[in-house]
Amino acid sequence: MALKKKRNLSLDKFINFSLYEKKFGFYMKKNPFDKKGDFITAPNISRLFSEMITIWAVSFWQSLGFPKKFNLIELGAGNGEMMKVLIESSKNFPDFFKACNFIIHEKSPILKKIQKKTISHNLVWISKINKIKKEPTIFIANEFFDAIPIKQFRKRNNVWFEKFVNLEHPKKAFFFEKKIDIKKLEKKINFQISKNQSFIEYSEDGLKYLRDISKVIKKNNGGLLLIDYGYNNKKMKNTLQAVSNHKFANILDNIGNVDITHNISFNLFKNFINQMKTLDTKVTSQGNFLVKLGIKQRAEIISKNESFLKKADIYYRVERLINKNKMGTLFKVMFIKNKKNKFSLGF
Ligand SMILES: C[S@@+](CC[C@H](N)C(=O)[O-])C[C@H]1O[C@@H](n2cnc3c(N)ncnc32)[C@H](O)[C@@H]1O
Repeated sequence: MALKKKRNLSLDKFINFSLYEKKFGFYMKKNPFDKKGDFITAPNISRLFSEMITIWAVSFWQSLGFPKKFNLIELGAGNGEMMKVLIESSKNFPDFFKACNFIIHEKSPILKKIQKKTISHNLVWISKINKIKKEPTIFIANEFFDAIPIKQFRKRNNVWFEKFVNLEHPKKAFFFEKKIDIKKLEKKINFQISKNQSFIEYSEDGLKYLRDISKVIKKNNGGLLLIDYGYNNKKMKNTLQAVSNHKFANILDNIGNVDITHNISFNLFKNFINQMKTLDTKVTSQGNFLVKLGIKQRAEIISKNESFLKKADIYYRVERLINKNKMGTLFKVMFIKNKKNKFSLGF
């Protein structure tokens, strides 16, 4: 197994290996979204989630001046459920539907296959997000950034150390640390990430996505709607976790069979975007966003003529998305846009 050749990997390289190694990576060999799968995401809890995203996207498109052609790109589309509903519900807004190039950016070949099966409408899959037509672009990312590998650093006695994994004996893998020059790192990412921190958790690829997306938004107009679990605190913290069969698992056990994720530091994302002088961000909780978009009213409408059981099921699912003790607060929605666009629906 290729694992044997790997000795010492930085944490992000290890996560990349565990999740995306061609043969046995977690996302590369099976569908984690099936009934017996490892987790469930908002679009798979209730289709109302994706319907609310459609309403938001239509209104945002209007605020961009009803462009005759624009791109709507979903980043990391999982089993394709959200894109399927986005397309279906967009048909209620014919001008929007006609103007829209529906696009998916997906890394996993097996999930791409599943997306192709789920979605009957003609759409395009792109491997690089800058390979799009130079038109206004709406990016949608639900639980995309949390699936991108992270690095971790800790400061001890004013010296920074990076977290690594020793994989010499895969069954006995362990973490260790290496001293690093934080200034060099900050020069590389062109961002003062260590300011006021004693612990750093960030994704190099995640920041690269943010930079590339920002360039598109600046040049062609548009925005990014990012939904993910995360926190607003200024101090970064260790949020690395592994999930298997809906339960927490050990990151170093059963490599390739557990999902590895983290919580997004929305403050880090905000600071990163603020550097790009012409862009700004808005953040709210998922619960607030969905309620403002009218998810409760929509639930009422669709359950009107349903049986008691079906009604209860619809409300139970909506509750799971908006309740502050469920996904309502832990999940947050971030909107990145050009400063001059004052659109704020849902925030
Ligand atoms: C946690 S899943 C979320 C799926 C979906 N958005 C949902 O809410 O059900 C993460 C998705 O992002 C994809 N992904 C992760 N890293 C990626 C990358 N660098 N480029 C494209 N897709 C990626 C995964 O394959 C998977 O489809």
